[in-house]
Amino acid sequence: MENMIEVRHLCFEYEENQPIIQDVSFTIQKGQFVAILGHNGSGKSTIAKLLIGLLEKKSGEIIVAGTPLTQETFYDIRHDIGIVFQNPDNQFIGATVRDDIAFGLENKCVPPEEMDAIIDSFSKRVGMYDFLDHEPSKLSGGQKQRVAIAGILAMAPKILILDEATSMLDPRGKKEINELVKKLRQESDMTVISITHDIDEALQSDQVILLNQGKVEKMGPSDEILRDKETLLRLGLNVPFAYMVSERLKKDGYLDQIEIRQERLVDQLCQFVSKK
Ligand SMILES: Nc1ncnc2c1ncn2[C@@H]1O[C@H](COP(=O)(O)OP(=O)(O)OP(=O)(O)O)[C@@H](O)[C@H]1O
Ligand SMILES: [Mg+2]
Repeated sequence: MENMIEVRHLCFEYEENQPIIQDVSFTIQKGQFVAILGHNGSGKSTIAKLLIGLLEKKSGEIIVAGTPLTQETFYDIRHDIGIVFQNPDNQFIGATVRDDIAFGLENKCVPPEEMDAIIDSFSKRVGMYDFLDHEPSKLSGGQKQRVAIAGILAMAPKILILDEATSMLDPRGKKEINELVKKLRQESDMTVISITHDIDEALQSDQVILLNQGKVEKMGPSDEILRDKETLLRLGLNVPFAYMVSERLKKDGYLDQIEIRQERLVDQLCQFVSKK
């Protein structure tokens, strides 16, 4: 397994003597899908900004694909990372949706004759093809998020960071984007970091890094972390929806074990019914 991102003893403060990120260490392997999960203000977006060099660390190390992130390597590393920020209003440059997606591709030196096909394809994949000539500022929050995601995915980044990037989408929209990211991962071995406080969103990931007040509280496989009810509730998070349902069903004798994934819960119930 190849390490894509290594973070070692990372510390950061916005104001002197007010530590925000405190001795954070983790490793993300190539092709992995990792969720950074934590309550509001736990430092998730700050970590994302540190990873792309938008904020400068106080101490510690960030190594991307074997290269330490420094002022000299910043530009090359940024090239490999696509980030969709939390607030879609701050990420548009173009006068139209088409110009906006094109801007990122121009920066990546994609030949102009290939550009239209890429823009058409990704705008279709996020359901925004009919809006290519619209002004980004006049779109709804969810539509802006779709365009921001299309713009980043069109650039085929090696690492994709989604910072609450689907927070304004309805459940169906979230599902569509999740499916799209899943498909692109299968096609390209893209490494994905999904930043969220939505536990059901974190279920998509292989690994979870659980943050609490700027420190790593726990990390490990999502199946393990997302069933740790005591820790999740203590950190002000929810348990997965399937957990709540299966806890009740187990209490009433309909299930033998707690499930955190809805598909597994349905399987278990079907087995129970067929045994009857
Ligand atoms: N520009 C800033 N200047 C000073 N403090 C900041 C700044 N940005 C964030 N903070 C503080 O840093 C801490 C971490 O903020 P951050 O935005 O990283 O949290 P988050 O986990 O992304 O939260 P949310 O879930 O609300 O997006 C918070 O206490 C916040 O008040
Ligand atoms: Mg945030």
